Amino acid sequence: MSGSSRTDGAGDRGPRSGEPTEPVRVWHGLADTSVLLDGFHALKHALRFDASIPVALTSDKAAVLALAQDLAPDVSDALDALLAETDEATLRALVPRLHPTAVAALAVRPSRGGNLRALERTPRVAPVVVLDDPRNLGNAGAVIRLAAGFGATGVVTTGTLDPWHPTVVRGGAGLHFATAVERVDVGELPKGPLFALDAEGEDIRGVEIPDDAVLAFGSERSGLSAELRARTDHLVALPMRPQVSSYNLATSVAMALFHWSSGRPPKAQA
Ligand SMILES: C[S@@+](CC[C@H](N)C(=O)[O-])C[C@H]1O[C@@H](n2cnc3c(N)ncnc32)[C@H](O)[C@@H]1O
Repeated sequence: MSGSSRTDGAGDRGPRSGEPTEPVRVWHGLADTSVLLDGFHALKHALRFDASIPVALTSDKAAVLALAQDLAPDVSDALDALLAETDEATLRALVPRLHPTAVAALAVRPSRGGNLRALERTPRVAPVVVLDDPRNLGNAGAVIRLAAGFGATGVVTTGTLDPWHPTVVRGGAGLHFATAVERVDVGELPKGPLFALDAEGEDIRGVEIPDDAVLAFGSERSGLSAELRARTDHLVALPMRPQVSSYNLATSVAMALFHWSSGRPPKAQA
């Protein structure tokens, strides 16, 4: 960072040496209660899906804006207005596993009430994905990214995993803001026909998944819980040759969402 290109909002007087700049002070104040957007792509997606982002920091604003011109010109102006520059040591102290693009931001987590209303809204135009007691944070992030890509209504998790855990947000590439992501108990699942995925079910190729479906997937270790099975309307299986035990959780979600979407006109994904 060159001293002449500082855009940290400190004004002509600037902070005295060793004092945090205003954006860094804002970061300190919000870090514990905000969602960390780590890297260019996470910030880009969050901007596209209208996340509220009170602070964004980089150690090289010119490089981030050049990347935006190249990869995402639609967010260039918003990034230019939002990004404050700070030195790399300060940024690394705030974000220990700093992304190679050297940019990070804090976003406001959407309210649980708003997410629950989105999950219950009818008529539903795309399924809700349920992860029943998932254990792997990377899988949860990958599923949120898939749900965003397919325009799913939301992703709900049961069990103890926090779907807004920083590692899940990292895996989701900022796409938590493109769908409704919440943790609920099995007894509080959104309404709609419950299609649960299990290798012992009926072949999915003969089953039409309706737009208002609740599509449930079991945990990596033990599959669907007894509580979820008891609520299931349709148990469906992905094609798999004998002797293969199961697919990875996130790839199972991908196949099921693709099956739902195929045969629908492209505009259904808008
Ligand atoms: C890694 S698998 C769980 C394997 C677990 N040992 C079990 O007994 O089911 C995670 C989830 O992916 C989904 N899944 C994996 N392979 C599947 C298949 N062939 N058909 C339907 N669902 C599948 C299921 O929802 C499953 O609970």
